[in-house]
Amino acid sequence: MEGPVIGSRLRRWLQNPYKILSWIGLGRGATFLDIGCGRGFLTIPAAYLVGPEGRIYAVDKSEKYLDELDARIRSLGLGNVKLLKTDASELDGVPDQGVDRACMMLSLHHIDEREKALLTLRDKMRKDSSLLVVDPIRGRMLGHGTDPAEMLKLFERLGYRLSLYRKGLITYTAIFAV
Ligand SMILES: C[S@@+](CC[C@H](N)C(=O)[O-])C[C@H]1O[C@@H](n2cnc3c(N)ncnc32)[C@H](O)[C@@H]1O
Repeated sequence: MEGPVIGSRLRRWLQNPYKILSWIGLGRGATFLDIGCGRGFLTIPAAYLVGPEGRIYAVDKSEKYLDELDARIRSLGLGNVKLLKTDASELDGVPDQGVDRACMMLSLHHIDEREKALLTLRDKMRKDSSLLVVDPIRGRMLGHGTDPAEMLKLFERLGYRLSLYRKGLITYTAIFAV
C-alpha cells in the first residue's frame, strides 16, 4: 500500500492533508501524535501547522520509512518532529498525557495488538484531546481494512467517545474525543 501512489500528488488531491488535519482542529503550539506515520503524509503538514512551538511525535515500526522521513524532515529544516521507532501498542518515548491530537491514517488495520494499542494511546492523550482514524473498509480494498461497526464498538468500549463518523466508498473516517 505504501508506495508511489500513497505519496503522490493524486493522493494529496484526493485526501488533502491540511483539510484532514483541520477536522481535528490542529493548530499552533499543539502536540500531535502520528501513529504509523509511514513516509509522513500527515506528519509534515502537521509540523507546519503546529509551528516551532508545537511538537510532533511520528511513530512507526518500520525503520525504512522512518529513515526516509528523517531525510525529508532534515531537508525541510523542520525542528519540531521527533521520530520514534516503536510499535503502536507500546508508544515508547511518547509522554503520558502529553498529546493534544493524534491520528491513525490508514494504519489501524495493520496493527495486530489493536486493543493494547488503543489502551496505550488513551494514556498518552490529554483531557479534551481528539483522535482521527481513517481506515479502509474491510472487503473494499484487496483484503485491507477493518470493519467500521466492529471498530466503533471497540473504541467506545475502551473509553473513546465518537464525535464524527463518515463512511465513504473505500474508507471511513472517525473522530473520537478522549
Ligand atoms: C498504509 S501505511 C500508512 C502510512 C501513513 N499514515 C500514510 O497515510 O501515508 C501504514 C503504516 O503503519 C505502519 N505500522 C503498521 N503496523 C504498525 C504498528 N504495529 N506500530 C507502528 N506502526 C505500524 C507501517 O509500517 C506503515 O508505515
